[in-house]
Amino acid sequence: MKHILDVSSLPIKTVEMILQTARQFKHFHIPGDLLKGKIVTTMFFEPSTRTHKSFQCATYRLGGNTLDYNHYTSSAKKGETLRDTITTMSQYSDVIVLRHPLEGTVHKCAEVADVPIINAGNGSGEHSTQALLDVFTIQSLIPLEMTRSPPFHIAFVGDLKHGRTVHSTLQLLDKMYTGIFFHFVSNEGLHIDKKYTENLRNNHYCEHNLKNIINMMDIIYMTRIQKERNTNADRSENILTKEILSLAKENAIVLHPLPRNEELPVEIDNDPRCKFVEQMKNGVYVRMAILDYVLSK
Ligand code: NCD
Repeated sequence: MKHILDVSSLPIKTVEMILQTARQFKHFHIPGDLLKGKIVTTMFFEPSTRTHKSFQCATYRLGGNTLDYNHYTSSAKKGETLRDTITTMSQYSDVIVLRHPLEGTVHKCAEVADVPIINAGNGSGEHSTQALLDVFTIQSLIPLEMTRSPPFHIAFVGDLKHGRTVHSTLQLLDKMYTGIFFHFVSNEGLHIDKKYTENLRNNHYCEHNLKNIINMMDIIYMTRIQKERNTNADRSENILTKEILSLAKENAIVLHPLPRNEELPVEIDNDPRCKFVEQMKNGVYVRMAILDYVLSK
């Protein structure tokens, strides 16, 4: 079964195929019937706007239908286990898109599901479909030769301990490119876990202050502090103000998986280097390509 659970189990060939299909969907014809008769079930046990809605939008654009599982009105309230719920929803769906706060749950559900499971975020673990859309966005904005001719610098900024998009995007970039310099910029106590960095092929550095390094960066990837995950920090120490962004390269790009908090003030929204709206829009094309891949024979 073609589950999409984490970056480490995604072969490069599959990634390239999905990105190529997404490019076709973005720039050429969108076949409105690829998912005709298919049902995509969304099961979100954590809040979501972009991931949830872009998966639904992607399904409709390809002519499919969605079922939305609601935990609070389901038989879970009568004591049904998640295992039984997944078995049940597998009977009614062709694929399940699942977000869950506990890191191991999505993988456990994939073991019992009769249909492919797509990980839409497992706690502080991974967010592989966001990684695909981040790499898609980077490839569409930065010429390939540039990422291949070192040094190429990327700063991941914010809550790197809990930020699952960073964990996945970092691994996917590391898998696809060499010659990158990763810079991890975080508050004390929110550093990236060693398990995500110890096997990196590319160079990586830990930093505290974005201002000191921003002039070297090709990509500035901002993230919010994940207050819901028991952090004791409630504000980012690195806020991308107009003044700090003015120090960045003219052709740098600013990405953010969103939602944003104080780290990305609206005062910079009109700066042409800010590409997070394009990034979120790309989520639809990439998720269309993911659904097409998972549901094709
Ligand atoms: C992120 C997530 O849920 O991990 N958002 C998203 O899916 N685009 C980032 C976040 O919640 O901070």
